[in-house]
Amino acid sequence: MREIVNIHVGQCGNQIGYDFWEGVCQEHSIQPDLTCADYELAEHHNTYFEEIDNGKFVPRAVLVDLEPGVHNRIAKQTYGSIFNPDMIYNDQPGSGNNFAMGFYSTGSEIIEEVMEGIRKQAEKCDCMEGFQLTHSLGGGTGSGLGSLVMQNLKGEFSDKMLTAYSVVPSIKNPEVVIQPYNSMLSMNYLIEECDSNVLISNDSLNNISQFSLKQKDVSISFINKIVKRAMLETTSSLRFGGFNNAGMRKLNTNLCPFPRLHFLTTTLAPLSNMQDKIYDVMGARELVRELFSSNNAICDVELTRGKLLTAAAIFRGDIESSAAESSLAKLKQKNSGEFVEWIPDSLLSSICSVPNADYSCSAVLLSNTTSIQSLFKTIDDTFTPLLKRKAYMHHYIREGMEWSEMSEAQMNMLDLINEYQQYEAATCDEEYEEDDDEEMEEEFGGFKTTHSHSDLHST
Ligand code: GTP
Ligand code: MG
Repeated sequence: MREIVNIHVGQCGNQIGYDFWEGVCQEHSIQPDLTCADYELAEHHNTYFEEIDNGKFVPRAVLVDLEPGVHNRIAKQTYGSIFNPDMIYNDQPGSGNNFAMGFYSTGSEIIEEVMEGIRKQAEKCDCMEGFQLTHSLGGGTGSGLGSLVMQNLKGEFSDKMLTAYSVVPSIKNPEVVIQPYNSMLSMNYLIEECDSNVLISNDSLNNISQFSLKQKDVSISFINKIVKRAMLETTSSLRFGGFNNAGMRKLNTNLCPFPRLHFLTTTLAPLSNMQDKIYDVMGARELVRELFSSNNAICDVELTRGKLLTAAAIFRGDIESSAAESSLAKLKQKNSGEFVEWIPDSLLSSICSVPNADYSCSAVLLSNTTSIQSLFKTIDDTFTPLLKRKAYMHHYIREGMEWSEMSEAQMNMLDLINEYQQYEAATCDEEYEEDDDEEMEEEFGGFKTTHSHSDLHST
């Protein structure tokens, strides 16, 4: 299988990155000293690990921050020494929660060094498929430096895939006063640079923890376990292969019919707390039902408030492919109004026979739904009042950012919302109306989709 290089940026990016690697090591039988305990699994190591001469497996990972605190904490964890120290970058004075420091001033001083590390990782691959990047949008490093890394990646590795796992800050309990600016500015880069983007919102993670998993005091380490599971499930078919398995490129081709509309919602099934787990052995039908429930989404969307463009379900464990496919087909038939009619083969499925550590059967759905626009509107609602008063403007200008970048980012996001609305309203036999904007004309013309039929099964 083709190699994938992971890049983790900022506090959140590194913390969820560490949890992910801990899970990957456990699933692939890699010990904290990098040896492999079960060589039967070794054929699957190549995608995420580099095998070095002494029979050890090193993560294909680059860890980046603008201060050393988080990396020092990670180093003390059980799997804290699995990362190549040459691939850890943090020798900077911080970013002051400010996108402009992460992108323009402090970040620009470290970017060349970071790119050199990424180049070295890429050179160690025989046939690299692409990159996965984890970060948050709320602080300064994950948003600003994360965007700068993405821009450089697309400039230098334009033929490789780039998927970002992006954590959207809590709107209900904001932690950083300028997070709406940081989120909007980074959205501008996510729209332009990523091939796909898995959005994760801290508000949804909190809700799932409180209501589905019945946690009284929700901690960051608890919500990160949900992120870890989502990342493990969504990468399982890339790591282990399996029935109808698709690589990163095929998955992105099938899930993203238009280049800008590449924001994916993740739903997990089952979702239950530890005590309930033994009663929660679900078959394909129950898993599919849960996958389409907004309560199981780790991104703040009401799935029924929009239309589904495409979706891919990945099942893990002992699930019959025919049962999975017929359950998906039945669900689609029953809820046909919730799918756009002009992408007929919009539901894909694959099966990874290696189960998740906690459930004998589980599933994840990656969906490209027009209902994601509500999340973007919420970000805009918190951004506009700050922008109107030019609040905190001097912090951004001082770091070398043009203030006009704020309104440009907003325009880009509003255009994106508009595109989701148009595709949501589009029908099969509707005539295409000429648009002044050339780019839109090209995208909307005849509703041609780049949706290709790969060996992913479509239902
Ligand atoms: P700086 O401002 O330079 O420190 O940037 P940063 O990228 O290191 O900031 P950070 O990642 O801490 O971003 C702050 C946002 O991320 C807030 O919304 C936090 O709630 C969220 N966040 C921080 N760490 C985590 C984490 O481990 N998990 C989750 N889910 N969210 C996190
Ligand atoms: Mg930080």
